[in-house]
Formats: sequence, structure tokens, C-alpha cells
Amino acid sequence: MELPKHIAIIMDGNGRWATERGLSRIEGHQHGVKAVKRALESALDNEIPYLTIYAFSSENWSRPEAEVNGLMKLLNQFLKSEERNLIKNKVRLRTIGRIEALPKDTQNVLQSMVQKTEDFDAITLTIALNYSSKNEIVDAFKVLIEEHKEGKIDVASLNYETIEKYLYTRDLPNPDLIIRTSGEFRLSNFLLLQSAYSEIYVTPVYWPDFTEADFKGALEHYSKRNRRFGNVQQII
Ligand code: IPE
Ligand code: IPE
Ligand code: MG
Repeated sequence: MELPKHIAIIMDGNGRWATERGLSRIEGHQHGVKAVKRALESALDNEIPYLTIYAFSSENWSRPEAEVNGLMKLLNQFLKSEERNLIKNKVRLRTIGRIEALPKDTQNVLQSMVQKTEDFDAITLTIALNYSSKNEIVDAFKVLIEEHKEGKIDVASLNYETIEKYLYTRDLPNPDLIIRTSGEFRLSNFLLLQSAYSEIYVTPVYWPDFTEADFKGALEHYSKRNRRFGNVQQII
């Protein structure tokens, strides 16, 4: 079976999952964390080298303060409680997004985990935090324009490969497969350029209910896709 090298997941539906059960949205996010652990295990079991999870978008700051604070707290708890497990499984942790706007304690925990795991190679787990594709382009432009002023950019030979080196994802291959849970057919400002040729798999399952079997289902769907990249026949 042809497997994706890089899977990116838009983990959606925690709130609806909770509301349908008479629980608070935060309780939905707590169950969402369990699904993150399952997804990481599934990715490790299937030897997927890159897993990227959309945990907090730049637009998510507009949610009620209590929910935003709850999400930040859950992230800290996840990183602390999973540290041993990540190290044991040789998981390299990375982030994409404007991390500098996160609470200082969260930034510190993230930085320390990224450092501790930087030489691991079983899987690269990238967490998208305060991430926005549009901001990613803005941040790329800022650096590019500065470098241009310093005479480091040859405008005539500028191409997409050059631009890619300024994106947060410069160390990552493009996602082969994007999974979105909760049945929404949209990308919500996630990896818009990088997903130019990604296969997109939308499942109605809410993120807290996403299991190993759902992960397998997404892999099977992917293996049946015919990826042409603008050509006339499948290119692997
Ligand atoms: C996804 O679940 C988690 C985050 C965006 C942090 P939601 O919180 O968006 O859940 P719904 O879409 O309201 O059901
Ligand atoms: C996308 O989910 C962001 C994350 C999964 C972190 P949202 O729930 O924020 O997206 P919309 O608002 O439905 O587009
Ligand atoms: Mg949502």
C-alpha cells in the first residue's frame, strides 16, 4: 500500500462533540488530546515520517477567553505529561506559527521539548500553534525584503523554491495527505501553499472520536488516489 510521507491533520469537532454530550467545550478539548495521542501512535505504528497537527489557528484567539486559556493549559499539560513518551518513541517535536505570541510558560516548555528531541528521527511531530497561512506569507516577505535590501536576493532568479525556504515549513516536505475531521470541507487558513497537491480526506467523525481505525481508513483512501500533479498519469 502506498503510504503518505507527511500527514497533516485539521483536528476539528471537539466543541460539537462536547455539546452533543452536555459537556463543556473544554471537556471536548480534553478528549481531543487523547485523540492526538492515538493519532501519534498510529503514525508511529505505520512508520509515517511526518505528522503535523493543527492545534490552534491565529483566528482561534477570537474565542472566549476561558476557552483560549483552557487550550493553552491543555497544551502545557500535554507537553509535560508526554515528554517521556515522546523521548521513548524518538519523536522529534517542532512547531509552526507565531510562537512568540503564546504565553511565556508555554513558549518555554515548547522550546525545551524542541531542543531535547531535535536529534530524534522516528517521526517529526509538528504542532501548528497560532498558525495562519496568510501570516506565514507575511513573515516570509518581511525576511525576504530585508535580505533584498542587503543585496542577498537576485530578483531575476526568484522562483517558488526560493520562497519555500522562507516559510515556517522550510524543513518539511509538503503534506501528501490532509485529514479534516467533523465533516467540514475547508482548509481554515492551514498550509494553503503547501497543500497545492495534497490529497484531502474529510471524515464526519469528530476529532475526539478519531481512532486508529479511522487513521487506517484515511491511509486506505490515500492509497487509492491517483496523484497526477498536472500530468496525465499517476506520479508517485
Ligand atoms: C477543534 O475543535 C479544536 C480547535 C480549533 C482548537 P473545535 O473547538 O473547533 O470544535 P467545533 O468545531 O466547535 O466543534
Ligand atoms: C481549524 O478549526 C483550526 C484548528 C483545528 C486548530 P476551526 O474550528 O477553528 O475552523 P473553522 O472556524 O471551522 O473554519
Ligand atoms: Mg471547529
